[in-house]
Amino acid sequence: MLIRVGTDLPIASSEITPRSLWLRRRDFLGAGAALGLGLTGVARAASPYSTDEKPNSRADITGYNNFYEFGTDKSDPAAKAGRLKTKPWTLRIDGLVDKPADYALEDFLKPFSTEERIYRMRCVEGWSMVIPWLGFPLAEAIKRAQPQASARYVAFETLVRPEEMPGQRSFPRIIPWPYREGLRLDEAMHPLTILATGLYGEPLPNQNGAPLRLVVPWKYGFKGIKSIVRMTLVAEQPKTSWNMIAPDEYGFFANVNPEVDHPRWSQATERRIGEGGLFAKRRPTLMFNGYESVASLYSGMDLRANF
Ligand code: MTE
Repeated sequence: MLIRVGTDLPIASSEITPRSLWLRRRDFLGAGAALGLGLTGVARAASPYSTDEKPNSRADITGYNNFYEFGTDKSDPAAKAGRLKTKPWTLRIDGLVDKPADYALEDFLKPFSTEERIYRMRCVEGWSMVIPWLGFPLAEAIKRAQPQASARYVAFETLVRPEEMPGQRSFPRIIPWPYREGLRLDEAMHPLTILATGLYGEPLPNQNGAPLRLVVPWKYGFKGIKSIVRMTLVAEQPKTSWNMIAPDEYGFFANVNPEVDHPRWSQATERRIGEGGLFAKRRPTLMFNGYESVASLYSGMDLRANF
């Protein structure tokens, strides 16, 4: 067995923003805005949607990833996603909409302004992180396509490009590509649901889903589909990758719920990445990952049956 010692992170230390500097930058800009200095664009006062928990380091967020298109180890995406070409990028929005389109990504992004949202993220595997995303509400993108009355769900797809995504060349196939995800339309329109284009104030690194990925903070991390090329408005519940692979283990909703165990492990607690390795005290997992305002989306639903 190969034992790794020391800091062998697959990214240069120059890429890691010292957190203290980044936090001071936010204080400074926040203060500037409060004094009416008219600072624009870069950063604003904290979003009301942000948690005040301490964000994970950029090294953790960009070095410990799930992105099976690049392999199944947590270090594979950082090591192998560098070859993915994210320019040019085309996003298709189609299905039950009045304005279907194939957008060049720059044209798609033009009307939207991003804001920083510091979100708690909880992976189904039992670990969590706090990530300062840059993004904008998915609702704004959906409204622009003008959904028809019959649209009830949004289906998402990731890029398929085996030349640049070695996990898509593996045999047997890990996942029937493309990676797919879906949301009910009311979940997609909820103000907490964002399309992210960056983190820590900079464009998304490839391993985190460049150039555009979904972030739904009250659901397990696998709903956060990366490197999106297509969003389709549909009438019926769409197929989603993990549900296709293991329907008994991964449901369509995938809401964070400490009371509903995964068939092979408990979901009651979580390990915050960066907190002292495997022997650190685990934290209790919160219903809807602490985002209780979403509870009304599920009133009257049996969340054990709809896991
Ligand atoms: N999107 C694609 N296309 N392929 C994947 O394998 N993994 C999911 C999700 N999005 C995945 C994906 C899982 S299991 C998790 S936990 C999150 O991405 C991880 O996002 P992060 O690496 O930015 O933390």
